[in-house]
Amino acid sequence: MYDNWEDLEESIKDCKKCKLFTGRKNIVFGVGNKNARLMFIGEGPGADEDTQGEPFVGRAGKLMNLAFQTVGINREDVYIGNIVKCRPPGNRDPQEDETNACMDYLRNQVKLVKPEVIVLLGRIALQNILGQEYKITASRGKWIEKKGINYMPTWHPAALLRDETKKIDFIKDLKLVIKYLDNNIKE
Ligand code: URA
Ligand code: SF4
Repeated sequence: MYDNWEDLEESIKDCKKCKLFTGRKNIVFGVGNKNARLMFIGEGPGADEDTQGEPFVGRAGKLMNLAFQTVGINREDVYIGNIVKCRPPGNRDPQEDETNACMDYLRNQVKLVKPEVIVLLGRIALQNILGQEYKITASRGKWIEKKGINYMPTWHPAALLRDETKKIDFIKDLKLVIKYLDNNIKE
């Protein structure tokens, strides 16, 4: 674990800890406010993210940005990261050896950001952060507190592209998060 961003970013620069390094154009480290109260964790880069080196800049990301606008979240105010930092081929799910290899980076990012709330975007984020026993359909929209962090599991933004009703859930879950943060402002 590094106690500063410079060392952490340096440590990942040429990472070859898992086989996903072979297909990547860019490592998608994460982006946003390094002192954010609110953090979002997705699954892994898609094609657009791989090309641009930034999380959630493709179709799913644009939809997420619209949802942010709807509930009054500024993208610059939050921190956004992923379970794996290199693109899985054909956007397949990241495999266990890959998530295991990559998770220390994310744990270190969480340790440095110290968010009060983490939104887990979809099953892969939920199960890798909180445990394989969690089901996204049962967990979404419900707070889970663990080691002083409040987790809000919700749908992955890509799922909203396929199913309109999930957009309503997604907005609802983000509103719960905003309400919590508004009610817990530390002086
Ligand atoms: N989907 C993800 O899970 N993460 C991204 O960064 C983009 C799409
Ligand atoms: Fe390293 Fe993570 Fe990329 Fe694998 S996915 S090569 S562990 S940065």
